[in-house]
Formats: sequence, C-alpha cells, structure tokens
Amino acid sequence: MPNDILIRDVPDNLRKWLEEEKYRRRMSLKEFMLHLLKEASQSATDNRVPTLFNSIETLPYAAAPFIPFRFIDLFAGIGGFRIGLTKVGGRCVFTSEWDRNSQKTYQAWFGDRQIHGDINAVKMKEIPDHDILAAGFPCQPFSIAGVSKKNSLGQAHGFNCQRQGNLFFKICDIARAKRPPVLFLENVKNLKSHDNGKTWMVIQSELEGLRYKVFSRIIDAVHWVPQHRERILIVCFDRTVFGDSPPFEFPEPPAGHPTLADILEPNPNPKYTLTDHLWNYLQEYAKRHREQGNGFGYGLVGPEDIARTLSARYYKDGSEILIRQCGRNPRRLTPREAAKLMGYGEKNARTFGHPDGFPIVVSDTQAYRQFGNSVVPDMVEAVGRRIVGVFSHHIAVAGTGCLVKGRTRIQPTRGAA
Ligand SMILES: C[S@@+](CC[C@H](N)C(=O)[O-])C[C@H]1O[C@@H](n2cnc3c(N)ncnc32)[C@H](O)[C@@H]1O
Repeated sequence: MPNDILIRDVPDNLRKWLEEEKYRRRMSLKEFMLHLLKEASQSATDNRVPTLFNSIETLPYAAAPFIPFRFIDLFAGIGGFRIGLTKVGGRCVFTSEWDRNSQKTYQAWFGDRQIHGDINAVKMKEIPDHDILAAGFPCQPFSIAGVSKKNSLGQAHGFNCQRQGNLFFKICDIARAKRPPVLFLENVKNLKSHDNGKTWMVIQSELEGLRYKVFSRIIDAVHWVPQHRERILIVCFDRTVFGDSPPFEFPEPPAGHPTLADILEPNPNPKYTLTDHLWNYLQEYAKRHREQGNGFGYGLVGPEDIARTLSARYYKDGSEILIRQCGRNPRRLTPREAAKLMGYGEKNARTFGHPDGFPIVVSDTQAYRQFGNSVVPDMVEAVGRRIVGVFSHHIAVAGTGCLVKGRTRIQPTRGAA
C-alpha cells in the first residue's frame, strides 16, 4: 500500500508518550501521527528547523485572566460559588436551591429570575451544558454536630440519611448525564473521616468510576476571613477530556490572615448584647462541661482575635462567637458582621453592583442560618482561578480553541495549534 507507513519496534517509552499525547489531544493514533508529520513537514517547507509542534506548550498556570466558561450552581444557598466563579470569568447558567429564604437573598444579590427548587425534581433536559458543576452539597449528614444530633435522635446519618444523604448521588447522576468537564464540590472537613473513612471512599470511588480524576484538600478559610473554617474542597477533571494528569494544584493560601478588627462595627445595635439570663445560662453550661472534662462552651473574642467557625445554628444563642464588650455582657455578631465574617463584604458586593454592601433581605435568624451554611467566596475564587489555569492549558495544548462544553468559542491563542 503506497500510502501506508508501518513502524515496528517502537521503544516502550516512545509508545507510552504517543499514547498519552493522543489521549490528551483526544485524537486517534492515526490522527496524531499524521498531525505530527504534517507539522514537521510544514516547518520544513517554511524553511524553519523541522519541529513536531508549531504550538508552544504554555506553563500550566499561565492562565489568561478571563477564559469564558459556564457553570451551574447546585445547593446554591446564597451564592458563595456564584461569586467566586463569576470573578474568574464564569457565567452561571443554572441555579438550584430549594429554601425560599435563600432564594430571596440569591435573587436580591444576583438578580436571577429563575431559581430551580428541589434538585430531585429537576429533569436532566432542564440543565444546560456547562463547564463546571459547582455544589456545596448538604453537610449535616456528615458534620460532627449533625451526626451527634442525628445519633441522639436515633436518626440515620451519612448516606443513610433519607432526606439529604443521597444528594451526592444526585450530583453523580448529573455528571453522568451531562458530562461537565469539571466538578467543584465543597463540604465539611469531617466528610473524610465520617464512618471511619468509608463515606469518603464511596465518594472517591463513585467519582473515579465516572472517569473523573479527583483532587481534594482541606483548606482553612482563615487566610481570607477572620474565622477558622476548615472545609474539604474537591475538584474533579474528566479524564476523557483532560487525560490522567491534568496540571491542577490547589492554591497556597495567601500569607497572614485578617482579624475580627477588620469586620466589627463600631456602634452595633444594643439588641445584640446578651441578656443577663442568656449570659448566665451560657456560663453555667460551660462550667458544667468543663467540670466533666468537655471542651464545650462559648467562644469569647475581641478585635485582635480570630473567631471559631460560624455555624448555621448561630441564631440560637450565638455562643460560638461572642464579642467582648467593656462593662457589659458580651454580644453576638450583627448579621452584617456575620456576612463579612464569611467574606460577603463591600468589595465583593461592589463587584455585583451593590455599592452599600450585599442587601440583607431576610430576618436575622434566616441571615445567620444562610451565612453559617455558606462557603467563603474568596476561597472559591482562589481555587477557581487554578481550574481556569487548567482550562487555558487545555485550550493551548489540545488546540481546540474552545472549551469542551457550553459552546463558548474563543479564538485560539497565538501559537496554539
Ligand atoms: C451547605 S448549603 C450550601 C451553601 C452554598 N454553598 C452557599 O454558598 O451559600 C446546602 C444548601 O443546599 C440546599 N438544599 C438541600 N437540599 C436541597 C435539594 N434537594 N434541592 C435544592 N437545594 C437543596 C439547602 O437549602 C442549603 O442552602
């Protein structure tokens, strides 16, 4: 056959390289070999030194500041993912959140007309194509507080929790049906140790079984906000798109950290000061637990400090974060301070068209619940920036000139094939 070339005895290392490259470029071996020969012959005809690649591989994180991509915001709450991913060039194309009060906040902040409710009631065809599936799926079934509460009530936790434990599998269903190139998930740190590590093993093997390469790291948001908030971040790349070794690394958090002085109001409303009754109760409760050798109790802090994790139950007594006051009982955070403690401060608000801060459009109780359930947007942004770095690398080396989903066409960068 005059048009055929047969090459025997290809050394193992070359064969392996060919396999990896064609996989990475989503080409058949034949397509890839012809591509190599064409590129080499082209440079020879152009009187350049023959080279196999006209394209220059970019460094993994030499990301263009904005590569347009589309994402969906599941279990959206008040939009921590929405803020972080929009700030790195994403466009939200679908939101699901079933809590009416959170929807109210989300709508006031981002102006969305349509927020889908229960994700279990959403049909796959209602979910548009997207590049990133973002989801901070409900954590109560896995959190230490949630598990001990469920245990004390004799209720099932983890995946066995009927109402919320199976929502991870809903994410898997969407990933299976829609094949988003990236999944970006967030949950409590305890997800890794829940049920002696079995829960995490199931999660990992489900995601791997869907052909995603899974990266995970526990990150403390203390580098962005003045509270310790350790969360597990899970970033998964579709192996059929990015290959087995996508050049992803979690970001190193910025050095240093803010303190409460950065978020405390000078003259908070006196209604946030604890009554004598509540303050006495909290002190008694802490004393009893200390005597029993337990660490439970309130957290009393001042401007120079870092707070404990703000929880969704903060509205009950505010005990985990009480602000010291001179000559008075301590006070709880105001809802505005709680917003800032989560990173929903003026800077992010301005980005979304709210020069006076994100409006708080729900009751104090609901506001505390929403902030305590939320994810720190600047932490999402930092990780999102790294994901965009992988997109830009992929666009450059795969030479597709566009992202894989969402039909967001962008021009290939100069030098990209
Ligand atoms: C841990 S919070 C996520 C918060 C969000 N990441 C944020 O930044 O605010 C989980 C959210 O999932 C919502 N949720 C729980 N079950 C749901 C369901 N079946 N469908 C839609 N939303 C649900 C809850 O109302 C809650 O707001």
